[in-house]
Amino acid sequence: MCGMHAMQKVKCHLAPLAGFTSAPFRLLCTRRGADLTYTEMVSAAGLFHGSSPTRQLMETMPGEGPVACQIFGSKPHELAFAAAEATKLNRFVELNLNAGCPMPNIVHEGAGAALIHNPSLVHECLLAMREATTLPLTLKTRPGPRPDKVLLFELLDAAETAGCSGFILHARFTSQMHGGDVHLDLLAELVERAKISVTGNGGVYNPSTARRMAETGVAAIMLGRAALANPWLFSDVRSDEPSEVLEAPSRRMALQNAAFAEHLSLLLQFSAQLARDFPDDHLPSSDGLVSIVSRTHLFRYFNGRPGAAVFRRRLNEIHSVSELLAAVEESFGPDALPPCPAWPEG
Ligand SMILES: Cc1cc2nc3c(=O)[nH]c(=O)nc-3n(C[C@H](O)[C@H](O)[C@H](O)COP(=O)(O)O)c2cc1C
Repeated sequence: MCGMHAMQKVKCHLAPLAGFTSAPFRLLCTRRGADLTYTEMVSAAGLFHGSSPTRQLMETMPGEGPVACQIFGSKPHELAFAAAEATKLNRFVELNLNAGCPMPNIVHEGAGAALIHNPSLVHECLLAMREATTLPLTLKTRPGPRPDKVLLFELLDAAETAGCSGFILHARFTSQMHGGDVHLDLLAELVERAKISVTGNGGVYNPSTARRMAETGVAAIMLGRAALANPWLFSDVRSDEPSEVLEAPSRRMALQNAAFAEHLSLLLQFSAQLARDFPDDHLPSSDGLVSIVSRTHLFRYFNGRPGAAVFRRRLNEIHSVSELLAAVEESFGPDALPPCPAWPEG
């Protein structure tokens, strides 16, 4: 299939990224062309035991496009409970089971990548979720624990026989964590063999890596880290513009400034929404939330600019939105702050 043709047909999704893909960033990506976004992974055990911070991960914002809720766990009864709760909210278009996260705290409870070793437990977990929801159900996983142990087709069988309608492959083995080669050959073989829709994930960071993945025949590609502070990647991967135009520093800087301002404004709206919807929780103030997110996410909009390293260090001393705005202006000039309707007064 010719590359351009492949990209015109393929959907583009935002991957679940714990700590990043809360509602404000998802909305930013939707506005720039993401066809579907995923929540951060939500703990089935957390929901089962009534954890309010876990419920906050399922908040969506007005204006969001289609959102899927990703759930992790390893106990079928907890996963069934979580699937029913997520369905009741009436705000998700799909539920997804995480069988790929390699982080020790997740694997130790038998969830995430630990499930890859046990396709029959994956089947049981998916069946429990299937019976608890009428929403489309998908699995996100990896080809196997390591290159000499491919369990991909057993996992595909588990998903298909449990009634999943989609299969998302992060085409790296667990032993690779989040780096190294992406196994497009396995992705292409999966597309050949699957009776359900396949989404490919891993290592897409520009239009040409997107095209290479699309050429495997997947129905959708899923963008992860490359979308962070770079949400216009969703429209760029479908663009016919040459890379010199897309990557021109002046264009990039204008897009970054605008996305930073919009992201900040959405964070302020989201903070007010959380305070309204979770009145009994001890939530950080909007200043507190913005200070945290500026250190994890927002600083990325200015990466690579002169002064970025000093700016990043300065963020450790920032405790309010006005201090953040002052730091941005002093570090990168007044043009770095386009006017934005939700700026705080004064
Ligand atoms: C910081 C971070 C958080 C992640 N959180 C999740 C998660 O909550 N659920 C999940 O299925 N994968 C998670 N992943 C994996 C990504 O969804 C994706 O599979 C991986 O980053 C590969 O895609 P990429 O190369 O485009 O980044 C996370 C990855 C990173 C780096």
